[in-house]
Amino acid sequence: MRILHWSIILSASSLSAAFVRSRGVPSSSSSSSTALSHSSSSSSSRTAEMTDIAKARTAISQAIAVGAPAYNRGDVRGCAEVYQETARGMIDSRLDIPASLRDRLKSEVDDGITDTTDYNDKAWALRRVFDSILEYQPPIVPRDSSLATELTMEPFTPAQLGEARNVMDSVMGGVSQGGWIPDAKTFFGETSLRNNGGFASVRWRFPNAQNWSYAKGIYIRGLKHTDPQTHTFRIILKDAMCERVRLANFKAIFSNPENSAEGPLLIPFDAFDKMEQMGRPMQGSPAFNPSTVTEIGIMAIKPSVVGAFQLEFDDWGLYM
Ligand SMILES: *[C@@H]1O[C@H](CO)[C@@H](O)[C@H](O)[C@H]1NC(C)=O
Repeated sequence: MRILHWSIILSASSLSAAFVRSRGVPSSSSSSSTALSHSSSSSSSRTAEMTDIAKARTAISQAIAVGAPAYNRGDVRGCAEVYQETARGMIDSRLDIPASLRDRLKSEVDDGITDTTDYNDKAWALRRVFDSILEYQPPIVPRDSSLATELTMEPFTPAQLGEARNVMDSVMGGVSQGGWIPDAKTFFGETSLRNNGGFASVRWRFPNAQNWSYAKGIYIRGLKHTDPQTHTFRIILKDAMCERVRLANFKAIFSNPENSAEGPLLIPFDAFDKMEQMGRPMQGSPAFNPSTVTEIGIMAIKPSVVGAFQLEFDDWGLYM
């Protein structure tokens, strides 16, 4: 049973364990360079941004290497101060990181440390922003329309997709909510960080594995969503191999930051380059296999989506 598995995994990771685990600290920066190649908008500014994100990650890794052991020794104040100093350094040096992350960082820095500061809260608040920066991946964004004319699009049909199923963080105790309106192709909901949660998704399971090896990837046309500069979403795919690995799937991040209605969003299958288990990359896992697709889904997840969200599009399917 899925629910049982989730709860076992969760009980193994207590709050303080989660704090020291420093998720993705040494390794997450490597994924950013591969993800970069899928993005299509203004590549030079994106390159500058990724260079600065790499700098930010180095600073954060160093801060966590000092702060996490301090925290675990009981020196919560020391940890908070190291994090605060690092955050201030990142703001003062005007690192070019995505606006939503910079704003969160700046608001913590401006908030400062005073006599009344709860050091535990402060350490955690900064750590959450740090984790968001460590995990940041540039989303795939819509192409200009000229490219689309050379492509063949094959929309998903209602019969092919079948009934949508909601999968929320309630499977691990969270309280996020969401739903799908088939006629309007609208995914809506509200993600909440309460109870360690933070995602909402809608999934379609194929009764028989789909052989999509003739296609290049998935397109979404006419995408619009809330908070275009901040919100990003994910396409989830499962292949036959995922079915044999507990809670495994492939994900690719997308958004429409300019809210442009022109070209389609094209998500190549090779963007699904790393199998994940509960959001963590599985090293050495096989690549996504488009000839045995068992499930597709759309997900809204922290840190880019916290609170109410809505996404809608005209149609989606496979492109060749
Ligand atoms: C998928 O289709 C291709 C041809 O389009 C075929 O060569 C391949 O064997 C099929 N794979 C499966 C798993 O059915």
